[in-house]
Amino acid sequence: INFNTARFITSAPDINQMPADSGIEIAFAGRSNAGKSSALNTITQQKSLARTSKTPGRTQLINVFELSEGKRLIDLPGYGYAKVPEEMKLKWQQALSVYLQQRESLKGLVVLMDIRHPLKDIDQQLLQWASESRLPVLALLTKCDKLKPGPRKSEVLRVREAVTVFGGDIRVESFSSLKGLGLDRAREILSEWLLQ
Ligand code: GTP
Ligand code: MG
Repeated sequence: INFNTARFITSAPDINQMPADSGIEIAFAGRSNAGKSSALNTITQQKSLARTSKTPGRTQLINVFELSEGKRLIDLPGYGYAKVPEEMKLKWQQALSVYLQQRESLKGLVVLMDIRHPLKDIDQQLLQWASESRLPVLALLTKCDKLKPGPRKSEVLRVREAVTVFGGDIRVESFSSLKGLGLDRAREILSEWLLQ
């Protein structure tokens, strides 16, 4: 799979306004500021495909990118951002769970978590939903450049052990957009899903 051909298709304000539910789709989800947009840019080798920001909550729309006809990558808005009103958070969570359950073309979910604080309640909720929907998950522990190789490895092992409670197919890898660490492995798993 060539990831470098990714191009922006559309920004959807909600799940009902996404492109037709056909082909293969992989969604990127995670808390605000986890590094979703940065990971998308790194994987597609395009500096500014997805907008990144120091301000959490930057991605408010569902951004749809296409690699080739019928193969899409989706940048979902971050969840759990403190400044978003509680009611909106609940609405988004509900929409997300419906998307995971009902989107036929969704063949894999990338869950991004900062390696320094992974598996918050809301991340666990997401992993639970994915597991219930029998959706394979790649959990990327992002910003792994912030840890030395030793602690980085032990954190990956700890999270791998912790996610076994959800059952299902959850793979855990460290990742750094800044240094390109874990890039080949991430692309390998996404290719697997995109080639089904
Ligand atoms: P929202 O769209 O707000 O939900 O955020 P996001 O998950 O898309 O995060 P984004 O990619 O915008 O990155 C958030 C911040 O983390 C930015 O300041 C990035 O520069 C930084 N960041 C992202 N990836 C890395 C990384 O691998 N290493 C380091 N050190 N910083 C990173
Ligand atoms: Mg973003």
